[in-house]
Amino acid sequence: MNEGPRRIAIFGANSRIAIEAARIWLAKGVHLVVVTRNPERLRRLTDDLTLRAAGLAEVHGIAADLADLDGLPALWESLRERHPDLEAVLIAHGTLPDQARCQRSPEAMLQALRLNALSAMTLLTVIANDFEARQRGVIGVIGSVAGDRGRKGNYVYGAGKGMLALFLQGLRSRLHASGVRVLTIKPGFVVTPMTEGRDRDGLFWARPERVARGIVRAFYGRRDVVYLPWFWRPILWGIRMIPEPLFKRLRL
Ligand SMILES: NC(=O)c1ccc[n+]([C@@H]2O[C@H](COP(=O)([O-])OP(=O)(O)OC[C@H]3O[C@@H](n4cnc5c(N)ncnc54)[C@H](OP(=O)(O)O)[C@@H]3O)[C@@H](O)[C@H]2O)c1
Repeated sequence: MNEGPRRIAIFGANSRIAIEAARIWLAKGVHLVVVTRNPERLRRLTDDLTLRAAGLAEVHGIAADLADLDGLPALWESLRERHPDLEAVLIAHGTLPDQARCQRSPEAMLQALRLNALSAMTLLTVIANDFEARQRGVIGVIGSVAGDRGRKGNYVYGAGKGMLALFLQGLRSRLHASGVRVLTIKPGFVVTPMTEGRDRDGLFWARPERVARGIVRAFYGRRDVVYLPWFWRPILWGIRMIPEPLFKRLRL
């Protein structure tokens, strides 16, 4: 286990999973910079986290719409100017689009891809260059098991997360020699606002606290890709093995 970063920036920090991860990091004395889109929610989040930090760690907040791709390079620049000792990032924002709407509307489909893939990839392009020049850093990104195989019920979301996973795979190889770590995080079903309205009983549903513990552990470990909880790794292995002529007939 490595010593771990001392200051982390979290993008999409108001995500239920990210909030739980932030609380764990603060308890370890890790300083945080949290980025959320809504100024009022940002204020509430920073107040809560600062209280929990109990003087052990600093919490700074920045409000930014992460779907505004043009603004992202400047956002990272100002963040780095204010916090030159940033050692890691967690990219957590995302959205579960209405698949039926995305099938009807190219605009809705593109909007989903913008938030689930292009936003993170734009941020990663500037962050990667920065960390590569410094020859250190940890980059963690929340993808999804949905990105491992296209399913009829959510292939627009899956395509975004799948594109992100491929991007991260290439980025990991590129940055390996410079000592920068790239971590792909693939949760399964998690009880968060994103999945509200679904039937969330059952063995496959995880609490965000559990997934957050897995994320924090992964930042201190050596794995490149983590499935959270762990049982999704063999499940997805099995799903990827199903031949396409059979898979397209399944009601998955
Ligand atoms: N829940 C699951 O079952 C599940 C499974 C696999 C992967 N994931 C992934 O886990 C990550 C965290 O999601 P979650 O489950 O914790 O759900 P969540 O609580 O709904 O978090 C999603 C976050 O994305 C933020 N966001 C959306 N659009 C944004 C924008 N334009 N700019 C900035 N932030 C924006 C939201 O901000 P606001 O707070 O302002 O709305 C929200 O905080 C996502 O990447 C998601 O795809 C979730």
